[in-house]
Amino acid sequence: MLTPEKAWDLVCEHVQDEGLRRHMQCVGVAMGHYAKILGEDEKYWEAIGIVHDFDWEIHPNLNEHPMKGAVILRDRGVDEEAIRTVLSHFTEGSGVERETPIDFALLACDEITGLLVAGTLVRPSGDIREMKIKSVKKKWKDRRFAAGVDRDHVMEVTTDFSNACFEGKLDLWEHIGNVMQAMQDRAEELKLAGREA
Ligand SMILES: [Fe+2]
Ligand SMILES: [Fe+2]
Repeated sequence: MLTPEKAWDLVCEHVQDEGLRRHMQCVGVAMGHYAKILGEDEKYWEAIGIVHDFDWEIHPNLNEHPMKGAVILRDRGVDEEAIRTVLSHFTEGSGVERETPIDFALLACDEITGLLVAGTLVRPSGDIREMKIKSVKKKWKDRRFAAGVDRDHVMEVTTDFSNACFEGKLDLWEHIGNVMQAMQDRAEELKLAGREA
């Protein structure tokens, strides 16, 4: 079974960009947090989050990612179920639909971490642990801020996750609060615990 360590090795081998590495770590911690809430395997969920974009730097386009990455994962002995989940984060290209809780969680945690990272990096302190949901709401409303984070898509995939895993009761801001909490809990690992002097 894929572990966070093996996932991280794959990332370090294929990704040099610190921001992209951190994106995957962030999705990993958010996934681990949700596994805990849902009584699932925390390490496995974290590993899936870490590995999901490992191929983005070698072919940063949606004609090849994550489909060509899947070939590499298979070659490295990653199990088919993990590969299926990774493929399901881009159904339009892969043709693989989200089916299981982990699939829905992955897509729901993916983009929103970008808004939280961007929101942290514009703070004078650079420390996510000081961030409050109120300031995230402001950034969310300003669509020019972290414009790559497609708010409508985030809402859509959060609703899908809520319906699949929370009987429709997980609302957008509770979800964003959960992801923020997960990232705050591991701020140092994510290098979001303040600027170095
Ligand atoms: Fe991706
Ligand atoms: Fe991603």
